[in-house]
Amino acid sequence: MTKHEIIIEGYSHTHAKSIAEHLFEGVPEEVVRSQREELLTLGPDEVFSVCALSGSQVVGVCTGVRMKWFGSRHRVEMVQVVVGENHRGRGIAHQMMRKIAEHFSAGGIEIIQISTESGNEVAIKAYQKIGFIQIGLLKNGLKHDSEYSDEVMMAAPIESFLI
Ligand SMILES: CC(C)(COP(=O)(O)OP(=O)(O)OC[C@H]1O[C@@H](n2cnc3c(N)ncnc32)[C@H](O)[C@@H]1OP(=O)(O)O)[C@@H](O)C(=O)NCCC(=O)NCCS
Repeated sequence: MTKHEIIIEGYSHTHAKSIAEHLFEGVPEEVVRSQREELLTLGPDEVFSVCALSGSQVVGVCTGVRMKWFGSRHRVEMVQVVVGENHRGRGIAHQMMRKIAEHFSAGGIEIIQISTESGNEVAIKAYQKIGFIQIGLLKNGLKHDSEYSDEVMMAAPIESFLI
């Protein structure tokens, strides 16, 4: 595989096809498109979605969502963080999070949050290395069909992403 320089750019609907083909295998393009459109209709002060590109191929996605309610408006949560299998461990998730932190930095955001299933050791290790600290464990916090698992909740100050 030829190694292209990785470029991080804001999500646009032209990325949906590559996400469906290369990253979320088996998820139809219309589903990728509608999931993101549902998030993005909130507007860029509330949600910012980025893609990591190697050439024209999307090799990573990450979306930052600002908390909605009074008292929590200084927090952004990173959701749907996925990097293609062949591109992991090279700092792509970290780069995408930096881009999102930069986007929100002027808007009064202080805390970046992320969460993952307690059994996802790869993600937990990567997030710790990025600077996230575990702040809680929500028993049965995740439910897929009727299967429950625990959710590890993590947070980091926005400054740690801004260099
Ligand atoms: C979790 C995931 C998004 C991380 O993406 P990534 O691009 O590999 O992460 P990064 O390379 O930016 O990792 C950040 C740091 O952790 C390190 N790291 C990554 N994987 C690691 C591992 N398995 N063990 C130890 N360190 C690891 C990286 O080297 C990097 O260190 P650096 O900042 O010193 O360079 C990716 O593994 C993934 O897509 N997993 C499948 C989907 C998933 O589980 N998503 C999370 C759902 S919340």
